[in-house]
Amino acid sequence: MKIAMGNDHSAVELKNEIKAYLEGKGYEVVNFGTDSLESCDYPVYGEKVGRAVVAGEADLGILICGTGVGISLAANKVKGVRACVCSEPYSAKLSRMHNNTNVLAFGARVVGSELAKMIVDEWLGAEFEGGRHQRRVDMMMEIENR
Ligand code: RB5
Repeated sequence: MKIAMGNDHSAVELKNEIKAYLEGKGYEVVNFGTDSLESCDYPVYGEKVGRAVVAGEADLGILICGTGVGISLAANKVKGVRACVCSEPYSAKLSRMHNNTNVLAFGARVVGSELAKMIVDEWLGAEFEGGRHQRRVDMMMEIENR
């Protein structure tokens, strides 16, 4: 499985840690940056990762900024993206099972690296349940066409 990762200046260290963690588990990670600690604009990276996922260049995306909020909002502006910001594993897991999220975000200033790994593990380990959830996801995505 290929995972696209993106982040702003606040999350370079956590991105590198999560990237190494995922690679250690056998995932292929495509790094969309930034790798610089210089202040930058999170929408750039949210959009890059969102577009990579929707284009099928990556199966899923993981985004990190200070809070995870801005970068997930930016990704959600890309048609076809369902990004959510999660600070704990339960929502991350359910976001896959019920909402079929294709992008996960969290905040480097909110969660520590061990909690971040747990969030990522639960998210990647969960499967979309389909059924009534598919109808709701379809309804949600229909909003993009109106
Ligand atoms: C950058 O200072 C900060 O605003 C950004 O990382 C993020 O938290 C925005 O949502």
